[in-house]
Amino acid sequence: MACAIAVLAGDGIGPEICAVAVQVLEALRDQGLELVFNEAPVGGAALEAHNDPLPPATLALCEQSDAILFGAVGAPRYDALPRPKRPEQGLLRLRKHFDLFANLRPATVFPELAHASTLKPEVVSGLDLLILRELTSDIYFGQPRGIHTNAQGLREGFDTMRYNEEEVRRIAHVAFKAAQRRRRTLCSVDKANVLETTQLWRDVVEEVAGGYPEVKLTHMYVDNAAMQLVRDPQQFDVIVTGNMFGDILSDEASMLTGSIGMLPSASLNARNFGLYEPIHGSAPGIAGRDEANPLATILSAAMMLRYSLEEAAHADRIEHAVRKVLGQGYRTADIQEPGCRVVGTAEMGRAVIAALN
Ligand code: IPM
Ligand code: MG
Repeated sequence: MACAIAVLAGDGIGPEICAVAVQVLEALRDQGLELVFNEAPVGGAALEAHNDPLPPATLALCEQSDAILFGAVGAPRYDALPRPKRPEQGLLRLRKHFDLFANLRPATVFPELAHASTLKPEVVSGLDLLILRELTSDIYFGQPRGIHTNAQGLREGFDTMRYNEEEVRRIAHVAFKAAQRRRRTLCSVDKANVLETTQLWRDVVEEVAGGYPEVKLTHMYVDNAAMQLVRDPQQFDVIVTGNMFGDILSDEASMLTGSIGMLPSASLNARNFGLYEPIHGSAPGIAGRDEANPLATILSAAMMLRYSLEEAAHADRIEHAVRKVLGQGYRTADIQEPGCRVVGTAEMGRAVIAALN
């Protein structure tokens, strides 16, 4: 039976990059991949149409689907809205609703793009690291939060950084298992020298480590990790960290690969149901201009095949095709270099489809 994919394209460049990723998946039909795609609005697009960044019908469609392919949400014109109405809430509510606690953000440098990074090629070439970001807790979701007027009559903003041990334990297990399948080195990133929450994080990760004696575990403070990522990123294999630190470090890691337009992600729950999205945002400045790099979304679609649909051979096909088009010199504007062939979003998609065969 064909798997059903909910396509939530969202705002800005979301629709363009999702359309291309869907075309790539459809091109695999000749090779036996049967998927059914159903679109639904999310983010600003859903706000305009239904006054809700995650309308009930969109949530219902996701519940009936085998996986979610997600574009991007957000635009400056929504920034002044009350928080529940903001496009980002569409994404955050989806993560929470489906308990998508394990966010996999692999940063791999394709040999062809080693020169596209702002770092020296010898620092980044061959880089292959995986950031595991906890995605459903931490200061993103902790209560209480708000802006109020304090006893001195001053406006005061506050959020709560909070983790319980079970939330740390389950992401730690995912991280150790990922490390087992890779180079068996795990770095847990925290701020245990200052924050109680992350002292608990460190203690629980240490406890879980007992079950994985073959994995070498280290701990690093987040400020040092931010520095080490640009100083010597090759020291890392798997990094596991909380929601907030993972948000920041994964944007940083994306620059090692040449462009934030290259980084895919998977957000999984305990039964491997997942939401797949590029880690970049909606890039309103280039929306509708056929300039966006669709490769992060195409690579996210490959992750969807691998992690939620158990179609690893098709995932390999897509990843090989991406490598091939880069080898052929195709580049979107964000990764262009002298002598390459600069193409738009749609043409990059066509090149990937041609390279599938
Ligand atoms: C990400 C994004 C989101 C986040 C935003 C859009 C809410 O930056 O997926 O990294 O902060 O998690
Ligand atoms: Mg982010």
